[in-house]
Amino acid sequence: MRSIKKQKEVLLGVTGGIAAYKAAEIVRLLRKNDCSVTVVMTESAKQFITPLTFESLTGRHVYSGLFDPQSPSAMEHIELSKKSDLLLIAPATANIIGKAAHGVADDLLSCLLMTVIKPIIIAPAMNANMYLSSVVQENISCLRKRGVKIIGPEKGELACGDEGPGRLAEVESIVDAVKTELKTREKLNGKEVLVTAGPTREPMDPVRFISNPSSGKMGFALATEALKRGAEVTLISGPTKQEPLPGIKFIPVVTAREMKEEVFKCLPKIDIVIMAAAVGDYQPVRYSKQKIKKDKELLVLEFKKTIDILAEIGKKKGNKILIGFAAETEQLAGNAKGKLKKKNLDIIVANEIGISESGFQSDFNKTVILTKGGKQEELPLMSKTNLAGKILDMLNPYLISSLTTTKKFSRLK
Ligand code: CTP
Repeated sequence: MRSIKKQKEVLLGVTGGIAAYKAAEIVRLLRKNDCSVTVVMTESAKQFITPLTFESLTGRHVYSGLFDPQSPSAMEHIELSKKSDLLLIAPATANIIGKAAHGVADDLLSCLLMTVIKPIIIAPAMNANMYLSSVVQENISCLRKRGVKIIGPEKGELACGDEGPGRLAEVESIVDAVKTELKTREKLNGKEVLVTAGPTREPMDPVRFISNPSSGKMGFALATEALKRGAEVTLISGPTKQEPLPGIKFIPVVTAREMKEEVFKCLPKIDIVIMAAAVGDYQPVRYSKQKIKKDKELLVLEFKKTIDILAEIGKKKGNKILIGFAAETEQLAGNAKGKLKKKNLDIIVANEIGISESGFQSDFNKTVILTKGGKQEELPLMSKTNLAGKILDMLNPYLISSLTTTKKFSRLK
C-alpha cells in the first residue's frame, strides 16, 4: 500500500459489534499511513472493546456521549466534524446504518453523521440475515444514493456460527478505501470552481414570469462535491428551494441577464466553470410596469433571445475548463456533440429530460458525458449526488497534479 502524502485527520466511529476489536488494527494501519485518528465510540461498542485501547493507540481522548463531562469541548459534534477530513464507521451495526439513513441523532456518532460534510465511509458488519433483511438493504441503498461509500461486508463464517455476507471487510481494504477517498478529496485543492444552478425567471409584468421547472438539485450537488474535493466554490443560482452548504460562496440571481453579469464578474479568477443552470432562452420583448389585465380574449407576447452565457464564456475560454449541460428530449448524444463544439466546451453532460424518473425536479439523472477529445460515456440512471462525483472525476485528466495548488492544467488530446 502506498502511503498518503500529508497527515490527514480521520474520525473513526466504532459501534457495538463483535468486529469492534478489528477497529484497533484499523487505527494502527491508518496511523502507519500518515493519518491522525480520533475515535468516537457508541455506548454498546464499549461492551466489546475499551476506550483505553483506542486512547493508547491514538494518543488522543476517545469520545462517546453527547454530554460527556470528560470531553474537552461541549460542542463535540461540530468541533470534531470541522477538524476531520473523513468519517469512517467500522464496524457499522444495522442500528447506526438505520440512524444514518433516517436522520436519528441521539448520540455523538449519529450527530456527527449529520454535521460532517466530508466523505463518509461505512463498513457494515452484522449477522447475515440482518444484513440481507429488506430494511437494512433499503437503508444501505439510501446512503449510497446520498454519496456515502459502503465497503463490504464480506461473505464467510460469522461470529454467530451462520454463513453468509456480514463479516467486516478486510482491514487492509477498509484502509485502502480511506486512502483512495482522501486522494480524491484533494483533487481540486487550490482550484476556483464556478457552478451555476437552477432556472432563471424572465418577468413580463410585476406578477408574472416565464421560467422552467429546474430544481437546482444538479448544480447544488456539483457545488457540494467540488467543495468536498477541496475547491473554492462560487455558486450562482436562480430561485430554488436548495440550501448551499456553509463554505460555498453563494450568489442568488433571478434573470438570465443577472446570471450573466454575476458570472462575468467572478470569471477572471475561475479555473473551472460548470454551467448546470437551466438558463431561460427567451425573455419578453416588453416588460409591463403594471399588471397585464385580462381584458383581451387573446394575449400575444413577443420574446427575444437572451444571451447564451456559456457560448460567451467559450469565446474567451483561455485556460479555463468549461463543462456544459445539454437538456434534451431526443437524440441525446448527437445534439450534445453539436453544443460541445459550438460553445467551445471541454465536457458536456447530456441529460434526458421529459422522462419521469430523470432530469428536472428529480433526484436522479440519466446522462451521456462527452468530451472534446472524443470520449463518450453513457451512464445509467443515478442520484444527482453520485453523478456530481462522476462529472468531477472526468476532470482528472485535465489536472496536472492532484496534490499541487498550481493553476495550470494539462489539455485533453
Ligand atoms: N446556457 C447558457 N445560456 C443560455 C442558455 C443555455 O449558458 N442562455 C447553457 C446551459 O447552462 C447549458 C448549455 O448552455 O450548460 C446548454 O443549454 P441547453 O438549454 O441544453 O441548450 P441551448 O443552448 O439553450 O439550446 P436548445 O435550447 O435549443 O437546445
